[in-house]
Amino acid sequence: MAGVELKAVHKSYGTTAVVKGISLNIASGEFISLLGPSGCGKTTTLRMIAGLETLDAGTISIGADIVDGPTGHLPPEKRALGMVFQSYAVWPHKSVAQNVAYPLLLQRKPRTEVAQRVAEALDWVRLGAFADRMPSQLSGGQLQRVAIARALVGSPRVLLLDEPLSNLDAALREELRGEIAALRARLGTTMIFVTHDQHEALALADRVAVMHQGVIEQIDSPERIYQSPATPFVAGFVGGANKLEGRVEGRRFICGSHTFELPGGVTATDGPATLAVRAEELELGGPGPSLPLLARLFLGSATEYRFTIGESVLRVVGPAREARPGEAIALSLKHARLYPR
Ligand SMILES: Nc1ncnc2c1ncn2[C@@H]1O[C@H](COP(=O)(O)OP(=O)(O)OP(=O)(O)O)[C@@H](O)[C@H]1O
Ligand SMILES: [Mg+2]
Repeated sequence: MAGVELKAVHKSYGTTAVVKGISLNIASGEFISLLGPSGCGKTTTLRMIAGLETLDAGTISIGADIVDGPTGHLPPEKRALGMVFQSYAVWPHKSVAQNVAYPLLLQRKPRTEVAQRVAEALDWVRLGAFADRMPSQLSGGQLQRVAIARALVGSPRVLLLDEPLSNLDAALREELRGEIAALRARLGTTMIFVTHDQHEALALADRVAVMHQGVIEQIDSPERIYQSPATPFVAGFVGGANKLEGRVEGRRFICGSHTFELPGGVTATDGPATLAVRAEELELGGPGPSLPLLARLFLGSATEYRFTIGESVLRVVGPAREARPGEAIALSLKHARLYPR
């Protein structure tokens, strides 16, 4: 087990910069999630840690070893890492046990040790009874557990996971999420988990690094990422906040021709600002501006109301009530976050 450190890592493909100076210090045994939208550079970052991509600038260390930097590049097979990809990447012509044994055979481990470690790794992912099955006889969730066992069998210093759950249906995804948490608690392996799913990142990680356009916008505990997003992007991506552009005057936020009263607890400085407010932090009624209702969507436990404000759509979630599209309804803020521009 080892920590991982990235210092000012840069990577471009041709003239396009995709990773723009990422620094990240992961403690030994820590579970970090890289969270961000498609194309923000998550896979590229993970592949650089794995040694599958070279850097343009910066350094990467694993434990006490500098594996990438001005002094050179250590090839992937010398980094002692385990990696799991989105597409199961299980060899179809090898049995479950043969798949899991493969990394140990490459290391020329003795036959008895291989058998014992394969049995142990299959037990970790609850596939002990499936050792002789062929991959074509397994479900997607089982295939991904084979890939996880294969990545863990060699006792990697760090386990890298790139969207390992995104090919699974919702129920399986939830089940395997719990298994990854249990496995991590049992083995204590350092893990870097790439995902675009905020629920996965918040549920699993000790710390979440939110990436946007090749940079890390915030790295914090899941609680702090959710409760105190550092930027409007983080507020929008984690927790799906509505974002309104306007200006603060005293205890008011003015957006176009609409004026919202700022509730107590919102820190405000006069001047141009972005207001981020989650759907459940708005309520229908009160002293706020009246806006035309665009649509009303029944969600089961609550109802979502969509309004138009200027060019944007404002989502509000609250108790069910009568409301017709086109009707003007007053809206008030219960809570919000302000980001001066
Ligand atoms: N080999 C490559 N050559 C050129 N451009 C690439 C290459 N690999 C990735 N890119 C580009 O780099 C950017 C970052 O890609 P990356 O795969 O790291 O994103 P990601 O955050 O993992 O996205 P996703 O959630 O879709 O997997 C993207 O715009 C992508 O098109
Ligand atoms: Mg990716």
